[in-house]
Amino acid sequence: MGDARSMPLADRVIDLIVTSPPYANAIDYMRAHKFSLVWLGESVADLSKLRAEYIGSERIGQASYDSLPEKPQAVICQLQERDNKKAAILRKYFFEMRSVLAEMYRVLRKDSAAIVVVGTSTMRGLDVQTHHCLADIAGGLGFDVVGVVKRTLDRNKRMMPARFGKKTDSMIEQRIHEEYVIGLMKPD
Ligand SMILES: C[S@@+](CC[C@H](N)C(=O)[O-])C[C@H]1O[C@@H](n2cnc3c(N)ncnc32)[C@H](O)[C@@H]1O
Repeated sequence: MGDARSMPLADRVIDLIVTSPPYANAIDYMRAHKFSLVWLGESVADLSKLRAEYIGSERIGQASYDSLPEKPQAVICQLQERDNKKAAILRKYFFEMRSVLAEMYRVLRKDSAAIVVVGTSTMRGLDVQTHHCLADIAGGLGFDVVGVVKRTLDRNKRMMPARFGKKTDSMIEQRIHEEYVIGLMKPD
């Protein structure tokens, strides 16, 4: 019930975090959620304001960013050669996720774990390797990266949208067959 970049929680009060943050440029969450949001009481007029607060939105602000760790920085540079605008969206995503991971670090107790489940994203044909990039960012914030493990998805149970008939050429069909589990520990 809030923005993961500024949680209404004191420092070091959480024993365990298990979360699946937005993926880089993968799913239009607002499109998927808008009917549920209105049903839950959100006003239609506020939806576009809320959309701007969604991590991974394609709206690029004017913010000037400092540097990122090696892996995300390298992926952004590679993408920049193919599409400048997409590279800016990805850069914004990694900075937003850095804020989320920093906030997770703040609220976690020492010697406690955060489990982050994230899908893959392909932008302009480039595999973004979100899992390795987020692990790199988390490491830079002080987390111990315990491991990054691939999990194969049961495509008939976990897909959104569900697969109907024999249609297998949509973007989502090409994209999401696996996800990654990133294990992080806040050191003692
Ligand atoms: C990969 S999905 C995870 C969905 C979740 N596992 C569930 O079952 O509802 C990522 C979620 O992050 C949410 N999200 C996007 N921006 C956010 C923000 N700033 N703060 C908190 N959640 C956000 C999206 O709305 C979406 O529901």
